[in-house]
Amino acid sequence: MSIEYHHQHIHTLEDLEDGVSVFLRLDLNVPLRGDEITDDTRIRAALPTIKRLIEKKCKITIASHLGRPKGKVIAGESLLPVAQRLAELLDIEVVFPDDCIGTGVHKHLLDQQDDQIILLENLRFHADEEQNNAEFARKLKSKHHAYVSDAFGALHREHASTAALPKLFDKKYAGLLVEKELQALSRLIKTPSKPYSVVLGGAKISDKLKVVEALLKKADRIFLGGAMVFTFLKARGHRVGNSLVEEDMIPRAKKIMDQASDRGVSLFFPKDFYLGRSVEDPGEPQYCSSVSIPDGMMGLDIGPKTLAHFSEYLESSKTLFWNGPMGLFEKKPFHRGSFELATLISKCNAYRVVGGGDSVAAINQSGLADQVDHISTGGGASLEYIEKGGLPGLRALAS
Ligand code: 3PG
Repeated sequence: MSIEYHHQHIHTLEDLEDGVSVFLRLDLNVPLRGDEITDDTRIRAALPTIKRLIEKKCKITIASHLGRPKGKVIAGESLLPVAQRLAELLDIEVVFPDDCIGTGVHKHLLDQQDDQIILLENLRFHADEEQNNAEFARKLKSKHHAYVSDAFGALHREHASTAALPKLFDKKYAGLLVEKELQALSRLIKTPSKPYSVVLGGAKISDKLKVVEALLKKADRIFLGGAMVFTFLKARGHRVGNSLVEEDMIPRAKKIMDQASDRGVSLFFPKDFYLGRSVEDPGEPQYCSSVSIPDGMMGLDIGPKTLAHFSEYLESSKTLFWNGPMGLFEKKPFHRGSFELATLISKCNAYRVVGGGDSVAAINQSGLADQVDHISTGGGASLEYIEKGGLPGLRALAS
């Protein structure tokens, strides 16, 4: 079996022969507080592929990045807590070398027993990983026979383990999570049932501009929230107080609004907000019933009028994609708008996909995760796939 990818093919695990040694790239980049994992969604999402490889009696070496240590060994960004969680969830011994390359790793590979899997230490402890260094990729390859990628959340990165390394293997495969993500996201870019609504939030408009521009060609309705909306609101002449605005993006925001009106795409903006003094010390939320934010205050969440307005148009959607929180999600009670949006989305009778760290956290924490059709494990990766219709890590798997 294979996945068609831009006139090429990506093999799936059904084609993988039994009993081979596999280098398995996962995205185990989970949030940590100290050494406690605060959300293990990505670890759980990787389990079906690991279990399938165990059933196939493969010798498994897992590799992942965690955080952004920028080529330095940082104790707080070790994958050790992940090794421990994997061992618990799989009820298997996880061998954890203190590096991802070198003689220590070779020794573990030689000594590996059938009932052990190896998890390598953080790939990004080596600057060569992010530099897509071919020699580093060759060291990672070592004696592995096949390469499997289930690191959907990292496939937009052209790094050694996602780009240079798969190119060194004749036998390379997409894992079950990558297959599932592509099936869901393809529905958004190939044949979305109409009306197609997209809800975009998050802090920075500069991170989302390109995807908004791409979505103008596909979506019928785009709902904007989160701090990034203030650049649009300022461009529309509203008072935004101290809210986060990317001044240099105002011309692009104006262009997007013009393009939307030319193409007949409806843009929806908030109608009210909860305000705070600052991101660091917001104080008690103050309600602002209009889009005119007083000086000295910043918009930190959307209000009830906005939710009611959004709801009216979200309900009739047939396809719905949500990326990015509506407010300062990490500081209660400014999480409320995102939680209430999660509830609205869970009630819509549309094909619903949620992607991106905080929007996924909102849907998980509100207990509504099983009410949507797909939760993407990749924030940046899902946006880039929707924007470009491809990813460097998929290109490297295709042949
Ligand atoms: C993510 O968290 O989106 C992925 O793990 C990629 O991480 P990165 O943005 O640090 O490359």
